[in-house]
Amino acid sequence: MTLNNLAILTSGGDSPGMNAAIRAVVRTGVFYKKRVFGVQRGYDGLIQNDFRALDARSVKGILSRGGTILKSARSEAFRTKKGREAAAYNLNKNNINALIVIGGDGTFTGAHLLHKEFGFPIIGIPGTIDNDLYGTDNTIGYDTANNTVVKCIDKIRDTANSHNRLFIVEVMGRDSGFIALSAGVATGALDVVLPETATNFDRMFDAVQRGVKNKKTSNIIVVAEGNKLGTPFEISQKLINKYPHLDIKVTVLGHVQRGGSPSTLDRVNASVMGVAAVENLINGKSDVMVGIVNNKVKCTSLERSINNNASINFELERISKILST
Ligand code: F6P
Repeated sequence: MTLNNLAILTSGGDSPGMNAAIRAVVRTGVFYKKRVFGVQRGYDGLIQNDFRALDARSVKGILSRGGTILKSARSEAFRTKKGREAAAYNLNKNNINALIVIGGDGTFTGAHLLHKEFGFPIIGIPGTIDNDLYGTDNTIGYDTANNTVVKCIDKIRDTANSHNRLFIVEVMGRDSGFIALSAGVATGALDVVLPETATNFDRMFDAVQRGVKNKKTSNIIVVAEGNKLGTPFEISQKLINKYPHLDIKVTVLGHVQRGGSPSTLDRVNASVMGVAAVENLINGKSDVMVGIVNNKVKCTSLERSINNNASINFELERISKILST
């Protein structure tokens, strides 16, 4: 296959640094004399034939901007064979020879199916704040989200300290505790509750007890969205029932974690991965995700990336406990 025209889309939850990756793909394409097309709103745009030509100047000034200029969507239609058929039809109709998708697990599942069913050349770039993709040390957006969370919790710490309060802070991560764990360590949380670990209230009660005994004047418990104990409000109620004398508040950080200007690391990683995605396509690679492992670009098959979980560093849990006394 001669690669003349390639398309790019962003799909799933957006993440800071997606624009930097789009810019890198477009400019690398232009560098190698390819024509690049942007697809609006992820797979929905593929199905609705929403393509536009992008040149080097179309991506000026976006390196430092959060969100995605191509917009994103979680496409229900693309989950169906009919939807993917329409997408493949439009790609061929527009003479597109290859597709680059930026997103997470769901995005790669769709990409892998499109490749398997229609033989379409595809490469994935990992973009999600959750960092839950196998085959890369950092997904694009994870570092920025972490920094946002840490900044927010530092502010919560100030007011918690002034009022001798305990805060339950919920951070994103439907299935993964990467943000919760690193932010927990970085902000000196009393306890961190993750989706990956079987935990129970006794452990949390012990931690709170320890805090009281050691005369801590502010306490932060970081809970990941997908934790098994419940919503932060349910967790807070349990604590209030057990310790009625404690002043307990809840903060849900929510989508603030997904926005903002990308950090240096996210910009650099997005640039490296964007270049790697185009160069690997030119070299005939397909059905893979480009990641960075130990500072080196590495390709992992989409299937492997989808079927394996990136594992959190459990050592950090131990460290968090030691340091929260
Ligand atoms: O992008 C991943 C993620 O941020 C998860 O951590 C979170 O559960 C989910 O997206 C929220 O998605 P939405 O914006 O569609 O509610």
